[in-house]
Amino acid sequence: MAELTQSVSIDNESGVAVITVDNPPVNALSWHVRQGIFDGLNQASADGAQAVVLICAGRTFIAGADISEFGGSVPESASLADVQGVMENAAVPVIAAIHGTALGGGLEVALAAHYRVGLASSKYGLPEVNIGLLPGAGGTQRLPRLIGVPKALEAMTSGRHMPAAEAASDGLIDEMIDGDWATLRTAAIAFAERAVADGLPLMKVRDRNDKVDGVDPQIFADFREKIARKTRGFLAPEYNIRCIEAAASLPFHEGLKVEAELFRELMTGPQSAAQRYYFFAERAANKIPDIAKDTPTIDVHKAGVLGAGTMGGGIAMNFANVGIPVTIVEVNDEALERGLGIVRKNYERSASRGSIPAEAVDERMALITGSTDKHDFADCDIVIEAVFEDMELKKTIFAELDQICKPGAIMASNTSALDVNEIASATTRPEWVIGMHFFSPANVMKLLENVRGDKSNDTVVASTMAIGKQIGKVCAMVGVCRGFVGNRMLAMRGAEAEKMLMEGATPAQIDSVLYEFGFPMGPFSMSDLAGLDIGWKAEKSTSSTIREVMCESGRRGQKNGRGYYTYDPETRAATPDPDVEQTIRDFAEARGHEQREVTDQEILERLLYPMVNEGAKILEEGIAIRGSDIDVVWVNGYGWPMYRGGPMHWADAVGLGEIVDKIKGYDNRLGGAHWKLSPLLERLATDGGSLAGHQP
Ligand code: 3HC
Ligand code: NAI
Repeated sequence: MAELTQSVSIDNESGVAVITVDNPPVNALSWHVRQGIFDGLNQASADGAQAVVLICAGRTFIAGADISEFGGSVPESASLADVQGVMENAAVPVIAAIHGTALGGGLEVALAAHYRVGLASSKYGLPEVNIGLLPGAGGTQRLPRLIGVPKALEAMTSGRHMPAAEAASDGLIDEMIDGDWATLRTAAIAFAERAVADGLPLMKVRDRNDKVDGVDPQIFADFREKIARKTRGFLAPEYNIRCIEAAASLPFHEGLKVEAELFRELMTGPQSAAQRYYFFAERAANKIPDIAKDTPTIDVHKAGVLGAGTMGGGIAMNFANVGIPVTIVEVNDEALERGLGIVRKNYERSASRGSIPAEAVDERMALITGSTDKHDFADCDIVIEAVFEDMELKKTIFAELDQICKPGAIMASNTSALDVNEIASATTRPEWVIGMHFFSPANVMKLLENVRGDKSNDTVVASTMAIGKQIGKVCAMVGVCRGFVGNRMLAMRGAEAEKMLMEGATPAQIDSVLYEFGFPMGPFSMSDLAGLDIGWKAEKSTSSTIREVMCESGRRGQKNGRGYYTYDPETRAATPDPDVEQTIRDFAEARGHEQREVTDQEILERLLYPMVNEGAKILEEGIAIRGSDIDVVWVNGYGWPMYRGGPMHWADAVGLGEIVDKIKGYDNRLGGAHWKLSPLLERLATDGGSLAGHQP
């Protein structure tokens, strides 16, 4: 075996040159990988090899361009196009041998080979769209030529990883191989020998036009409409579509030019910068500096959930979805049946939409056991409490759980704002207590905000992160404070939204500013959706807030068709309600608030700058481990548009100096604790530092 570069080597197996890439962890196409493959292909030619096999060592085939090289300076080396050029134009067959995932630039390299063979467990995708890009190495022109336009549209705008069986039936790979890596290597060499012996043609994907000729342009219009809602605000899906349109209407080399131009535009724009930043932010959030990587974690063979309400049912589903048995305990049979009934309905809805197989409904329900006896938690490895948000109740329950749970079991609370240390203090083993803050609907929302108590031990901390990953959540570990990271910042936004209502802004105006910014909805639509009467009691209501006034007049939100908006009973479409606007004006004037025009710009600043300020305070207090964790919380838990990176990244992009000046101005004008400038924010603004990159 001869080394070509630090990550690529070449071997000769009876006339077949085997080029092996070994660039852990995911064989990304770093400069030395590109140069190594380039050199290897040239060497194979110089040595008179009969064929070439390109394979990767480690856990996967090439998972794409090295994202950490984007925007940085790297040594001069062969470009991806150079590599593909020598590969495609080689005088002997080149075979890509694929295990793990062939993604992005990795799949694009494989598409320049003459043939592709892959393990049955391998997966294929062009996920560039997820980092705000499009495949920039011919993938947009080659993929549709192999799998056809409709499939390429779906694959490239979703970034989905296609399984090997699908890839084989679509013609993306030429042979699927059962077995392990060694089998793959042997089979790829055998394929190469066969190609030589049988004189198989040197297939160039670029020359195959049968699947891109005569495509009905209506396909593109229909597809745009289909994904419009899901991709609102994102540039990359549309640019990917334009490239496929080019593949279907222009010669290959012209299509490549369109791809290059649109790729350059995305790569230099703010959206992809935010999405690339976010890619690494999400991975960084898994790392907790004072917890060693090899800290033992608890394997969950059985989970327990206390409370089968809005949250408990969804939390239980997360475990059942990955095959872990769950015991769910309620106060009485009626509440239990109601809760389990909702869980079943949720599964049935998923099955009717085709997102889970029909038989999965019963299989998953069979994993969930209902009970009204907490003693059934005795053999659970983790119990998550999701009862009413009431400190005394939670303390009573944790004292009971302390008596019931086995030694070494995690006792977690799903509280959305309460002091986890105080909850833990009700037990004799606070080191086994932690917060696991799921978001509603808990079976759908990606975020899991784990809340580390002062005494939570390392195993509990490491285990909640591992369990979160196991059940498909994106996790961030935060510290104890009122509302933790997400709800604490949300409260700042909510307070200013209420104030601006009093000054003359309407619910629809405030909501639309956030919607245009990229949030799925604003605070008033959100309140209507959740129900205006959550936590409201008629007998205690004193018309002291606008929300109380609304509830007193029978407005409950979407559920009764009347909230801040009125809702069409058929379509559920929301319309601003002049009566509500009048009620708000009357309420405000009665309290001496002068009415005025509030501009959209002021609304945006007053909603988002206090959140940025609070985020900085959270960092100052060490509640978040790093600035980027705050962004992970907001993107996954509250619908902050990913193409703006999250509140910390966004603030850096706006300019911390600008934000500091504005906050000082609002503090002078409006006052209030949330406008008191964070000293950290001021210091970072002065020193040219970054909130997203800040690590206390
Ligand atoms: N570049 C640089 N680093 C990468 C990387 C990439 N393309 N892909 C993954 N990594 C790093 C991660 O940051 C992580 O580093 P860490 O351990 O220091 O945190 C490590 O590799 C392992 O990654 P994951 O934790 O994500 O590992 P998983 O096993 O869960 O997932 C994966 C593996 C499916 C390959 C996933 O990492 C992934 O989806 N990677 C990105 C793939 C991608 O987007 N490729 C397209 C790149 S753009 C491109 O190719 C442009 C081209 O068209 C020109
Ligand atoms: P919920 O009112 O829908 O459900 C609570 C359930 O707990 C009820 O079914 C009730 O019967 C049951 N319960 C009460 N006392 C019990 C006891 N002693 N033993 C067994 N069951 C008992 O409340 P929800 O919304 O599910 O909230 C639960 C917890 O989750 C709260 O702490 C809340 O703050 C938190 N949370 C709520 C979110 C939401 O959006 N609803 C989001 C994130 C967290």
